[in-house]
Amino acid sequence: MALDRPTPNDLRAFWMPFTANRQFKSSPRMFVSAKDMHYTTAEGRQVLDGTAGLWCCNAGHCRPRITEAVAKQVGELDYAPAFQMGHPVAFELANRLVDLAPDGIDHAFFTNSGSESVETALKIAIAYHRARGDGARTRLIGRERGYHGVNFGGISVGGIVNNRKMFGTLLGGVDHMPHTHLPDNQWSRGQPEHGAHLADELERIIALHGAETIAACIVEPVAGSTGVLIPPKGYLERLREICTKHGILLIFDEVITGFGRLGAPFAAQYFDVLPDMMATAKGLTNGVIPMGAVLTTGAVHDAFMQGPEHLIELFHGYTYSGSPIASAAGLATLETYAEEDLFARCAGIAPYWEEALHSLRDARHVIDIRNMGLIGAVELEPIAGEPTKRAFNAFLKAYEKGILIRTTGDIIAMSPPLIIDRAQVDQLVGTLREVLDSLD
Ligand SMILES: Cc1ncc(COP(=O)(O)O)c(C=O)c1O
Repeated sequence: MALDRPTPNDLRAFWMPFTANRQFKSSPRMFVSAKDMHYTTAEGRQVLDGTAGLWCCNAGHCRPRITEAVAKQVGELDYAPAFQMGHPVAFELANRLVDLAPDGIDHAFFTNSGSESVETALKIAIAYHRARGDGARTRLIGRERGYHGVNFGGISVGGIVNNRKMFGTLLGGVDHMPHTHLPDNQWSRGQPEHGAHLADELERIIALHGAETIAACIVEPVAGSTGVLIPPKGYLERLREICTKHGILLIFDEVITGFGRLGAPFAAQYFDVLPDMMATAKGLTNGVIPMGAVLTTGAVHDAFMQGPEHLIELFHGYTYSGSPIASAAGLATLETYAEEDLFARCAGIAPYWEEALHSLRDARHVIDIRNMGLIGAVELEPIAGEPTKRAFNAFLKAYEKGILIRTTGDIIAMSPPLIIDRAQVDQLVGTLREVLDSLD
């Protein structure tokens, strides 16, 4: 039966993603506009953005260079196919992206989201081995508490039970390393001391299945969505060594760590560890138009460039891969980052952010704090028998008090736009203290 004609206040039809729909619809929270560090609610209140939207608006909101570039592009070339056809903006963006990426990364494959970038990277990994005559390498290794988006490949290599348990049979041939979050590392600032040895679990999995069956290992350099898990010192370096030794591709999921979040263009540069592929999205267009990109080394790309030249080398792509409007948004975003030196700005304010966050150590309910770049997590003691409820209440109160935070389990995660200033850091952290003090 058709729904009644919806009125502007009728919230029934939109089945909201990753949302407690019934709770939201009984007490909606609506943003109607945004500028720089702030959202404006439907009631006209200003809310300080402590999460860059969903970790994507790294340059803040409604930045003129980006909005103007999108408006110009939509009037000039709204859409053009990227299958067997091209348009200059996508090529230009690919060049700028590989300029920004670490040396050795020199190709970009466009997608429309982080999830699609992950699926694309996993498929390229398997196809890469097949293209080289090593077709038994199909197994994929992920990690507990990893988040790689919501498509079937991503939830399979991901390590979040809730994201998988409702969806039945998944990709076969997947294994998981342990996560790196150790109790010994409580209250760590930046990279924790303990846990590099956990990378050796990859050796154990290799011994179990045989290196000749494994295509790739995928990790978030800093795990974001499961509560900000920072890699222990030496861990990523060790993963790189083991992958190289066994001919396994190393994929960094840089969907949140890319585009300056750690104070460098990508985590690969921050940690000085070169993966074979990087999955990116979010900050690529400042969240303005959906877009992702998989960045690869020349070796990965070149493995496909063989056989008759009139044949398609990779049977993969999306209608909107490198769409003109998304590409224009991407170019203007990269220009904004460069013009305002936002990655250096992030590195500059990161120590202040760290101090401010760790000042919450004595706030009520707090059991751990961790940070890196402009990422921070404040972990709360769960209410006995009601996991996630205390953090969700914190989120609701924070919104009432004018700050946007995000929660995952009983962890508050923050990732403000890189344009945040010290007074705004103080406001975010000061308000969060008031919120925590007021919680049961
Ligand atoms: C590390 C990581 N990978 C992939 C994704 C999925 O991105 P999207 O929601 O754009 O599909 C996310 C989203 O938060 C992410 O944090």
